[in-house]
Amino acid sequence: MEISTTLTTEPVADERLAEILANPGFGSHFTDHMFTVRWNPSDGWHGPEITPYGPLTLDPATAVFHYAQEIFEGLKAYRHDDGSVWMFRPEANAERMARSSRRLALPELPPADFVQAVEEFVRVDQRWVPDAAGEKSLYVRPFMIATDRFLGVRPAEHVTFLVIASPAGAYFKRGPMPVTLWLTTDYTRAGRGGMGAAKTGGNYASSLVAQQEATAHGCDQVVFLDAQELTYVEELGGMNMYFVYADGRIVTPELGTILEGITRSSIIELAGKMGHQVEERKISIDEWRDGVTSGEISEVFACGTAAVVTPVGSLKWDGGETPEVSEAGQVTMAIRQALVDIQYGRADDTFGWMHRIC
Ligand code: PLP
Ligand code: COI
Repeated sequence: MEISTTLTTEPVADERLAEILANPGFGSHFTDHMFTVRWNPSDGWHGPEITPYGPLTLDPATAVFHYAQEIFEGLKAYRHDDGSVWMFRPEANAERMARSSRRLALPELPPADFVQAVEEFVRVDQRWVPDAAGEKSLYVRPFMIATDRFLGVRPAEHVTFLVIASPAGAYFKRGPMPVTLWLTTDYTRAGRGGMGAAKTGGNYASSLVAQQEATAHGCDQVVFLDAQELTYVEELGGMNMYFVYADGRIVTPELGTILEGITRSSIIELAGKMGHQVEERKISIDEWRDGVTSGEISEVFACGTAAVVTPVGSLKWDGGETPEVSEAGQVTMAIRQALVDIQYGRADDTFGWMHRIC
């Protein structure tokens, strides 16, 4: 792709940027620029450009507002101690976005173009990548929307792919402290043949009422079970799950109706290298409840790009609660450390996961 770049004449002032980067929070501040490329059946992908960040002007009849034909990705850029900027496995996000495109009947952006777009964009806004202190990073959000001005229900013939970015601190305000999970049995996230494996806005819209239920019960996040039998653990609203057994085995729910997290895949490889036997299989809610009560399951954690690796303190449901764990487990923290050490360039990247941007 030949990307045209128009730089902003009003970049955020250095002092204001320093204030934002000192305490970025999550998802509230946006960089100076954005990337856009458009698609239609006759021209294919065309007109890739980096322009000043700003609002989109869309007709009220634009398809995405009505039928949610939308997909997105989430990945991070990290600043290493020598000042260089790196991305973690962008080609894995590119491949996943292509899979989401197929499920949502959207055109596929070639993975090489996705990686080029993200990397050139981060290079332009590199001053927005925070330094590594406090595990900060630049969260990059590629997304694709149906822009047809049409209320008939059909796959879009006009599509826009954009990339924006937001400096990020810890997703959970308290840092990697154990979080409390609520088990919902009123709501499910995805069924067989549904969109569970795609990263599409509708999955998050449908999770919100369950998340409200979790909050009402004093919990941080919600756990979804499979839609057919309400028996097997799937994932959280925005994270995958892992169970550490006292004998060192590590189990994560098998793929199918869950999102194939890049953190999840990376942990399968990392934990294997650290000597753990890793199993991808069905795990029932009873195995979880009984395992943590008996001690057979010694640690539970959740993982994702935004949340990194987050220990689970306890699981609550209508009428019960597992024993409360107040400290992060050793295996959880060792896996977390191994992952962030690679991301921040403090350990050898023997997997070839990191891409240097600048
Ligand atoms: N599951 C869901 C539903 C998510 O939204 C995310 C976040 O991206 C994940 C799992 C973890 O995926 P990844 O590790 O690629 O960020
Ligand atoms: C991510 O971890 O990238 C996510 O998408 C989770 C959430 C912010 C939606």
